[in-house]
Amino acid sequence: MSFDVEAIRAQFPVLAQSVHGKPLVYLDNAATTQKPQAVIDAIVDFYTTCNSNVHRGAHQLSDNATRRYEKARDDVAAFIHAPHREEVIWTSGTTESINLVANGLGQLLKAGDEVLVTQMEHHANLVTWQQACKRSGATLKVCPMTEDGELDLDAFDALLTDNTRMVAFPHVSNALGTINPIKLLSTKAKEKGAWVLVDGAQGIAHGDVDVADIGCDFYAFSGHKIFAPTGVGVLWGKRSVLEDWPVWQTGGEMIHDVDYDTATWGALPNRLEAGTPNIAGVIGLGAAVNWLKSQDMAALQAHEKSLLDYATEKANAFEGMRIIGKAKHKIGVMSFLFDNAHPADIGFILDKQGVAIRTGDNCAQPLMKRLNIPGTARASFSIYNTHQEIDQLFAALKKAKMMLA
Ligand code: ALA
Repeated sequence: MSFDVEAIRAQFPVLAQSVHGKPLVYLDNAATTQKPQAVIDAIVDFYTTCNSNVHRGAHQLSDNATRRYEKARDDVAAFIHAPHREEVIWTSGTTESINLVANGLGQLLKAGDEVLVTQMEHHANLVTWQQACKRSGATLKVCPMTEDGELDLDAFDALLTDNTRMVAFPHVSNALGTINPIKLLSTKAKEKGAWVLVDGAQGIAHGDVDVADIGCDFYAFSGHKIFAPTGVGVLWGKRSVLEDWPVWQTGGEMIHDVDYDTATWGALPNRLEAGTPNIAGVIGLGAAVNWLKSQDMAALQAHEKSLLDYATEKANAFEGMRIIGKAKHKIGVMSFLFDNAHPADIGFILDKQGVAIRTGDNCAQPLMKRLNIPGTARASFSIYNTHQEIDQLFAALKKAKMMLA
């Protein structure tokens, strides 16, 4: 399969529009990706032909909805190489997936236990564990990183102790783009007998994720970062861990037997999926992974890498620009600052020229404090972006630089 970026772009209807009278240059993909027509069609078709609740109805529509909904579980399980389909738990997104673990397994933490996270956490994987530690009396430890945004592996080793119960880290930093050595980190943590959770929000769309190979206990991700709708996500967990841990949310679907004063829980995956799920979202996520699998993944990755390389080269030649996050292994995320310009002003001026980026603390305030910066401007690339769009980004930045001088 050869790679044709225009053919990819043509499948994303939202890209063919103008913003403030300029062609849209969408470079905020780490915040959320756009949706291909195949995903939009799957959602519209669900609501048009078989909308009904799943697992409950004594009727044809419910059977059809249930079949599509459970087929998505098979497709997602295959996509991440999950050994068992019932290890795929639907959530509303990465944040809920992490909260599910911290509020379920977190009930087993006690004073004296340690939870290890990193300096590059998104708030979802920091505050959630910080609060679980406060509830349980466990101690939160934070693995440092270098100025370039790479984890300090010696410090990681030193911070792992016999008391470490949980180690949680990002596959990829949303603010810096750093790809962490997650297999190595998992192996080290498992040697200490700790549970391992990988925040896969930014990792899932950029490579082949094989949860069994990583060796973690949990891998959490959101649909909307991988061309699926918002409001749906996945907690993948090892069956042996998920099977008998304390449940978090209770309600319909997750029970086995209920009386007025007692209740017992059903089997996986239902025991962790209380209430009516986001059925259309799940079906959209199934469509998204199938769409992605039908592409030439190696070519997509090579394209994204060439976009990052091209943008980095231009940034290095742009007077006064400073890239935040210079790890050796990065996805297509370029956070930056230039001169004394405030990131919010850069974002405002770029928007007027049709260029969409993110500005601010990247939901990582402690990381910004660690780097002694107020925040960043962040351009993040996806498979449908072009080299010409990066030229447009830098033309817009040149204008911003002149206006802010
Ligand atoms: N976590 C998302 C981002 O990095 C929203 O932009």
